[in-house]
Amino acid sequence: MAAVVRVENIRKSFSPGLIPKKIHVLKGISFEVAEGEIFGYLGPNGAGKTTTLKCLLGLIFPDAGTIELFGLPHLALKAKARVGFLPENPYFYEYLTGEEFLDFYGQLFDLSRPVRRQRVADLLKLTDMTRAARVQLRKYSRGMLQRIGLAQALVNNPSFVALDEPMGGLDPLGRKEFRDIFLRLRDEGKTVLLSSHILQDIEMICSRVAIILDGRVVSQGALRDLISQKVLFTEVEASGVPESELRPFGDCLSAAGGRTLLKIHREDQVDAALAHILSRRGAVLSLIPRTQTLEDLFVDVVKKE
Ligand SMILES: Nc1ncnc2c1ncn2[C@@H]1O[C@H](COP(=O)(O)OP(=O)(O)OP(=O)(O)O)[C@@H](O)[C@H]1O
Ligand SMILES: [Mg+2]
Repeated sequence: MAAVVRVENIRKSFSPGLIPKKIHVLKGISFEVAEGEIFGYLGPNGAGKTTTLKCLLGLIFPDAGTIELFGLPHLALKAKARVGFLPENPYFYEYLTGEEFLDFYGQLFDLSRPVRRQRVADLLKLTDMTRAARVQLRKYSRGMLQRIGLAQALVNNPSFVALDEPMGGLDPLGRKEFRDIFLRLRDEGKTVLLSSHILQDIEMICSRVAIILDGRVVSQGALRDLISQKVLFTEVEASGVPESELRPFGDCLSAAGGRTLLKIHREDQVDAALAHILSRRGAVLSLIPRTQTLEDLFVDVVKKE
C-alpha cells in the first residue's frame, strides 16, 4: 500500500523567550502512514505529538528532515488541498452557528454554494449535529465543539485527516460514534492519523501505531505484532464453593453474594482450580484469559525508557 504520509528524521527545537538555550522537542522522528489505514500516534503529555502534527500540516517548520504527503513535498498546495485537520485547541468563531461555521470553511476551500449546502448537511448528519445546526457555537458543550470540529476537518472531503486528541470531551457514547465515523472514513478509502491518550479507542480501531517519548519514536508497527498474545493471567469466577477453599489457587479479587473472582497467574493452577470447583459441585461462571493490552504495552515502553 502506498504511503500517504512519510515523515523522515524530523527535528524541531524551540528557543522560548529570552532563554538562549534551545529546547529540543523532536529529536529525529520517522514514521509512515499507509493509504486507507487508521494510524495511532501516541505518547505521554509533552512527548511532541502536537508539534509533529503542526510540522506535518505546515503550520510550523522542522529544523531538519523531510515530510511528504501523497508522495509530494508536504507544503505543495496540491497535497495540502487533500488534507483535513482537527487541531488540539481549535479556535471557534463563537457567534457563528454550526451551519455558518461549516459553510465559512467551505468557502475557504472555494466550494460552490450548492456543493457547500449538501456537504454541510451531510457533515452535520455524520457528526449527529443537525439538531444544533442553527445554534451559536458559544452555546455548544465541549463534546459538541469536538463534533463540529471534526465536521470542519472533513469539509473539503479530504483523502487524509489528521486529528489531534479528537476524543477529548466526549462521553462514552460519543467516543463510540467517533470510532464508527473513523471506521467509516477508512472504509471510504480515506487515511486517518489519530493522536489520542484514550488507548482503548486506539486499540479498537487502529491497525498500526507509533509511540513517541521525549521527541523520539520508541515503538512502531502493527498492533497485532506489538501487543503480545501471551496470556498474562486468567480470571475465574465461581459460585457454590467457599472463598477460603479457592484462595490457594490465586489472588481473590472479590467475594460477595456467594461468588468469588480469582486472578490466577499459573496455567496449571487454573486447571487445578477448575477441578476443585467441579469436584465440590460448584459452578464456573466465567473464565477469561487476559492478554496484553495497548495500555500495558504503553506503560511498559514508557517505563523502560
Ligand atoms: N512554541 C513552543 N515554544 C516552546 N516550547 C514548546 C512550543 N511548543 C511546544 N513546546 C514544548 O514541546 C514539548 C512537546 O509539546 P507538544 O505540544 O508537542 O506535546 P504533546 O505530545 O502534544 O503533549 P500533550 O499530550 O500534552 O498534548 C513540550 O515540552 C512543550 O512545552
Ligand atoms: Mg498535544
